[in-house]
Amino acid sequence: MKGIKVPRKEANNIRKILMEESLINLDFKITRDQEFVYLPLKDSVKTEKLVSFDIDLEIVENDFEAQKRGPKSFMDYLKGKIDETETIEIKKSFDIIGDVVILEIPEDLQKYKYIIGKAALDFTKRKAVFMKKSEIKGVTRIREMEHLTGENTSETIHIEYGSRIMLDVKKVYFSPRLATERERLVQQVQDGEIIIDMFAGVGPFVVDISRKKEVLVYAVDINPHAIYYLKKNIELNHLEKKVIPILGDAREVLRQKTINADRIIMNLPGTAHEFLDIAMKLIKPGGIINYYEFSSDFDTPINRIVDAAGSRNVEIINKRNVKSRSPGVWHVSIDAQIN
Ligand SMILES: C[S@@+](CC[C@H](N)C(=O)[O-])C[C@H]1O[C@@H](n2cnc3c(N)ncnc32)[C@H](O)[C@@H]1O
Repeated sequence: MKGIKVPRKEANNIRKILMEESLINLDFKITRDQEFVYLPLKDSVKTEKLVSFDIDLEIVENDFEAQKRGPKSFMDYLKGKIDETETIEIKKSFDIIGDVVILEIPEDLQKYKYIIGKAALDFTKRKAVFMKKSEIKGVTRIREMEHLTGENTSETIHIEYGSRIMLDVKKVYFSPRLATERERLVQQVQDGEIIIDMFAGVGPFVVDISRKKEVLVYAVDINPHAIYYLKKNIELNHLEKKVIPILGDAREVLRQKTINADRIIMNLPGTAHEFLDIAMKLIKPGGIINYYEFSSDFDTPINRIVDAAGSRNVEIINKRNVKSRSPGVWHVSIDAQIN
């Protein structure tokens, strides 16, 4: 194969010039001997082009060794399998939950779903790939999924900031995209707090907080599968003395409790506002409500909190957009101190 032979001391400068001109064949390795360096050239390079550089270059035939380069990106795994113009539609971001990969595949690429699934499996080196079949819906906030490739198992253990979270992606809500928000909340919690997580799911907030702080958490969820995995996660993370799992509708089960909470977490962004009246009954003076809502502004959720607080004074200590939900609409987080 065609290459250029250059003295060792000039090799680096010449390599840079040829790289800038895209003349070096990057699929092959540069070789060296005592005196010379050999740079592999692209087949298409014309001798006249090299002469025009006005540097002493000797063109030689050499056996260059091929680079051992695997595909680097998810798209590399699809090269040659799907028409390149169509790959533009493919979402390059997907969720990885433990050993499970969850993809979103647009309608016109459904014909390639198994090829895309296999590429995701090879790229991520996880065990199973599922495709989203519906929006997140219903009271339990879960979505339909279709198994594409790998093992047909939707149960897995996800590790997040050192917490081990066991769940079944088909039966419960869980979003790895809230990891930073959970960690932000952990930093806010003080030792000694009594906390209610009204919509605890499998317990990612609960586990993260109680692993790192001396707290007592009442963790409520209406989905029996979520409570099943919450109990598993209490065991997995040795939190039996810190977390009380409660199955049921937060409104019903908390109505019967007399808890003086330092903090109430309300991550049910579609309908959490319907439960603010209960939260106000259970939060102690100076306690904090970590409230979430889908909103295009901060005023709407803040006004709801202020309205529910009635004559009590509300201090907004933090407000932020956690993640985008749809164009212009955010999963908004409000930390409100109720005095
Ligand atoms: C958006 S998920 C959040 C789960 C968890 N906090 C997390 O961040 O992964 C909301 C959870 O609220 C639960 N839920 C919905 N309505 C409820 C209610 N009335 N009482 C208790 N839990 C409820 C759902 O089953 C679901 O697990």
